[in-house]
Amino acid sequence: MRIYREKDYTALSRRAANLISAEIIRKPDSVLGLATGGTPVGTYSQLIEWNQKGDFSFAEVKTVNLDEYQGLLPEHPQSYRCFMQEKFFDHIDIKKENTFVPNGEAEDMEAECARYDELVRSLGYADLQLLGLGRNGHIGFNEPSDFFHKETHLVDLTESTIEANARFFGEGESVPRRAITMGVGCIMAARRIVMVVSGANKAEAVRDALLGAITPRCPASILQLHNDVVLVGDEEALAYV
Ligand code: F6R
Repeated sequence: MRIYREKDYTALSRRAANLISAEIIRKPDSVLGLATGGTPVGTYSQLIEWNQKGDFSFAEVKTVNLDEYQGLLPEHPQSYRCFMQEKFFDHIDIKKENTFVPNGEAEDMEAECARYDELVRSLGYADLQLLGLGRNGHIGFNEPSDFFHKETHLVDLTESTIEANARFFGEGESVPRRAITMGVGCIMAARRIVMVVSGANKAEAVRDALLGAITPRCPASILQLHNDVVLVGDEEALAYV
């Protein structure tokens, strides 16, 4: 695993954006696995700036997102589809039909999970998968569990994740308790994984993921078995590694 220790959030966002743009320049029709949450927002902003300057193009890029809340329409302001449009896709030259997010509104969730796995497989898996890290060690919404979930699946979010996500919802708005997430099978099938971490409240999860036992109790620990993981963090998040 390669670690980039950056001085602050701006620097780590720039570094992650640099790795992603290098991938697109190397392979203009790259498949990018993307994450939501707060940490990648700076990375997306930096990519938007460089794309608008004309440094590289997303015209042939395809994207697959990790997860989506169950029960939120794509137009719902807190849906991950909406998040991706607002924070990234609406500002770059990507074709909307080349961007994929699980359908949290599907009537038959089992069929939707199977469809999403097949979609990611048919795209040849991600050339580069961008990940954040939950304070409880989750990746995507693969929450701590007794075993690793290989396939895309519906998950009951833990209380700590619901609490962490509440900051994106207005007062009185209920935070979804279930989500559909890519399993660790698709994540580990990515050729390169770039994980972004920021802030002291991630330091223990980073330590457990990198230096602890490989266990589904800390889902990110499975990344120790991947041969091309790049961790990009600020000094606070990397305090123990
Ligand atoms: C979101 C996702 C989650 C987040 C994680 C960290 O698509 O997959 O695993 O990456 O919850 O979120 P932030 O960056 O908000 O701390």
